[in-house]
Parts: sequence; structure tokens; C-alpha cells
Amino acid sequence: MLKRLWLIAAVLLPFGAAVAQEVPLQHVRTNINDIQSLQRGARDFMNYCSGCHSLRYLRYERMAKDLQIPLPLLKKNLMLTSKKPLDHILSAMPPADAVKWFGVAPPDLTLMARYMGKDYIYSFLKGFYADKSRLWGVNNLYKPNVAMPFVLATLQGVQKPVYKSVTDASGHTRMELVGVTPGTGGSMTPAQYDEFVTDITNFLNYTAEPIKAERRKLGVYVMLFLALFFVLTYLLKKEYWKDVH
Ligand code: HEC
Repeated sequence: MLKRLWLIAAVLLPFGAAVAQEVPLQHVRTNINDIQSLQRGARDFMNYCSGCHSLRYLRYERMAKDLQIPLPLLKKNLMLTSKKPLDHILSAMPPADAVKWFGVAPPDLTLMARYMGKDYIYSFLKGFYADKSRLWGVNNLYKPNVAMPFVLATLQGVQKPVYKSVTDASGHTRMELVGVTPGTGGSMTPAQYDEFVTDITNFLNYTAEPIKAERRKLGVYVMLFLALFFVLTYLLKKEYWKDVH
């Protein structure tokens, strides 16, 4: 049996090695307690993403409460697709139309940060580059042949791909995508754009687990309680054993 496994592994190994090296993800620092960053992220999500993407596991009202957004402000500025605060955050686009236009339906993003990790969302939003062969004229470093148009192009500008020529074991030379050069024609500096996508990533990290900030706070109380309880138990033990020794 073991021999057979080795054989299979030996046969499959060259195939594995032939798969292009993936570009490593960029790390993002987010802070679930930074309410202002979350508010900016929510605003930017509603303006730039909610036309196509839903947050179907989150209600407007819950978001407003967690992010300390007054209801009138919520209704006026953030509820672009519905009227009632108790509604779930759904995109305006009917799924059938989305499939017709993009080939795939834009995924729901409520849980994306848990599913793919926040570094992935951040990298994905920074990974678009010009590619004339694609329908929308862009491709993505982290999601090859992406079906999403680059809706933030006016902010970041459009990056250009950087290729490196590599020669594999059998002597074939090919071009491998290794990175991008900074975008041109955007309205933001690279630092501003980083901050912009950090806020959206922070917000999507919040939607993936709205209770997280509260859970952490509760955790601190639990630890304090346990510490206090330990002292009391220790004193009690000393008291009990006082007469035995
Ligand atoms: C015009 C419609 C449209 C808008 C606006 C849009 N997206 Fe998308 N998005 C898509 C489509 C279509 C896909 C599916 C891409 C695919 O599977 O290739 C997608 C996929 C994604 C994915 C998942 C990528 C993956 O690996 O599957 C993320 C994350 C994402 N979008 C984030 C965003 C964010 C954040 C915004 C706002 C800044 C945004 N999108 C705005 C259409 C859109």
C-alpha cells in the first residue's frame, strides 16, 4: 500500500511543480475597535460595492448600532437599496442580470473575510492590473481571469503587470507574472488608496463576525474574574489547611 502511495506521489509531483508560483498575499493591519475606520469602510462599501455585492447576513439596523451611526444618517446616506432599517443589506442587482453581464454572480461578501481571510480581500483590491485580453480590460494578481470590473480604477489608477522570464526543467522559457507597477491616472496617492482599502477590509472583517469586538471585551472580564477567583480559592485553601499542618 505504502509503495503504491509513493508511486502515485512520484507521478503527480512534476504536475504540482508545473503549477505557476502564486504571488504571496499582502498583509493588512485592521482594527475592529476603530469605529471611524469601520464607518468609512461601510460608507465606501455602500458607494462602491453594494451595486453588485450583498451582505445578506447583516441588517442595516445591526450595522448602525455596532458602528454608532445615527438612524437618520443611516437612512439618508447608507441605505441605497432599501427603505427599512431591519432589512438585510442586499445589492440592487438581480442575480440573473449579474450572471448575464459578468458570467458569474458577484459573491455575497458578509463572510468573505472568514472564508478567504482579510489579507486576501486587501490584496485582491490592490491586485488589479491592465490586461487588454480580458472583457473589462483588467486582470487580478490574486485571482487570475477575474470577472469583476475594476470599480476603483478612478481612485487607484490602473497598474501594469510585471513579468519575469523563467526557464523550467525541460528548457522551456515562459513569462511569469510576478507583480505590478503603481497605477497611473488615479485620484489617490498609493498611501491614500492603501488606507481606503484597509477601511473596506476592516468593515468586511467586521461583517464576518459582528460580535467580535464584544467577545474580546467579554474575554477580558472573564480573565479578570478568573484571576480574582483564583486568589479567593487560594486564600480559602490556606484557611482550610491551617489546622492540618
Ligand atoms: C460591477 C459589479 C461589481 C462591483 C461594483 C464590485 N464587484 Fe466585486 N465582484 C464582482 C464579480 C462579478 C465578482 C466575481 C469574480 C469572479 O468570480 O471572477 C466579484 C468578486 C469579488 C470578490 C471575491 C473574489 C474571489 O476570490 O472570489 C471580492 C472580495 C470582491 N468582489 C470585493 C469587492 C469590493 C470590496 C467591491 C467594492 C470596492 C466590489 N467587489 C465591487 C462584481 C463587482
